[in-house]
Amino acid sequence: MRVAVLGCGVVGTQVVRLLTTQADDLAARVGAPLQLVGVAVRDTSVERDPVVDPALLTADAEGLVTRADVVVEVMGGIEPARGLILRAIEHGAAVVTANKALLAQDGPTLYAAADAAGVDLYFEAAVAGAIPIVRPVRESLVGDRIRRVLGIVNGTTNYVLDKMATEGLDLEQAVKEAQALGYAEADPTADVEGYDAAAKAAILASLAFHTRVSLDDVDREGITALTADDVAWAARTGHVLKLLAIAERGEAEDGTPGVQVRVHPALVPASHPLAGVRGAFNAVFVEAEAAGELMFYGRGAGGAPTASAVLGDVVSVARHRVLGGRGPVESSYADLPVLPAEAA
Ligand code: NDP
Ligand code: HSE
Repeated sequence: MRVAVLGCGVVGTQVVRLLTTQADDLAARVGAPLQLVGVAVRDTSVERDPVVDPALLTADAEGLVTRADVVVEVMGGIEPARGLILRAIEHGAAVVTANKALLAQDGPTLYAAADAAGVDLYFEAAVAGAIPIVRPVRESLVGDRIRRVLGIVNGTTNYVLDKMATEGLDLEQAVKEAQALGYAEADPTADVEGYDAAAKAAILASLAFHTRVSLDDVDREGITALTADDVAWAARTGHVLKLLAIAERGEAEDGTPGVQVRVHPALVPASHPLAGVRGAFNAVFVEAEAAGELMFYGRGAGGAPTASAVLGDVVSVARHRVLGGRGPVESSYADLPVLPAEAA
């Protein structure tokens, strides 16, 4: 089973590490060896972690995707990631991606391409790092009726708000720390302005409500307007400030059923489980009619936690290829309208 990795940054390096150091275990779980055939980067002359064999590095991502059975996209951004994923699918490769920005902007195009080609497109790492949340919503709960998904889905902003509250750091200092720890996006504006959380909310809402929700449908407010005084005031009144993502069923004014998705800072009572989510951890509550309330908690960002989710997907899609068959499809989703924020 030939595996190509696109990107060798915070996440890609850890993906290569797991593919290399766990090779025997992975082969046993897949039923065939996973052979890393190349790692695409922008600049092949940059010194990399010693776990990455320099001979595997290439700047020719377009050529690499045509030589793989499984393509792992961890480069980020919209293009060339989108074009490369489509090219990989056209060539019959299964795709694993951590790219929430791309899925939230143009997921339906990718889902349709995967359906047309009959290949898997998996993206557990795109939402909440190591936490298994995509698969439970996409597969485990698909027989139930989800009412609401709510939680902390951005590690950087949670880290920043936590550091502001507990160590008195200002937003800029805390963001720098989050960048150094590999939590932040290439441009941390995506984190602090709530775009990253909004992308994840759009992905979860699409899966939970079997409809198409894009980034533009999400009512979004980030944390940049919050001051040290706001954080201190929250603590004095028995609250913690958290950036929450919320997706729920709702009704338009004329009674039309739909979904409403939003991201904004919220005052969480100190006694609530979300208040105790520290650092770059994430937590997501899912409320479903039959299942009731479920809570998912864990590391929401960082190279190794994210690589864990990526490798889980790699094993799944590789097993499908060894055994035949493929996983779930989303290309037919479009039944519920996305409602304006006022409808909530
Ligand atoms: P990094 O910026 O650390 O790494 C990006 C990698 O992609 C680099 O190796 C870069 O090459 C390569 N790359 C970027 N553009 C191109 C291009 N045009 N052609 C070839 N290679 C390219 O990002 P992360 O590892 O942090 O994130 C990767 C993806 O994972 C993103 O979609 C992100 O949203 C997602 N993600 C990240 C998490 C995290 O905690 N960091 C968690 C969950 C998801 P070069 O090294 O030469 O510059
Ligand atoms: N920048 C993202 C975060 C990475 O901080 O949550 C994980 O998706």
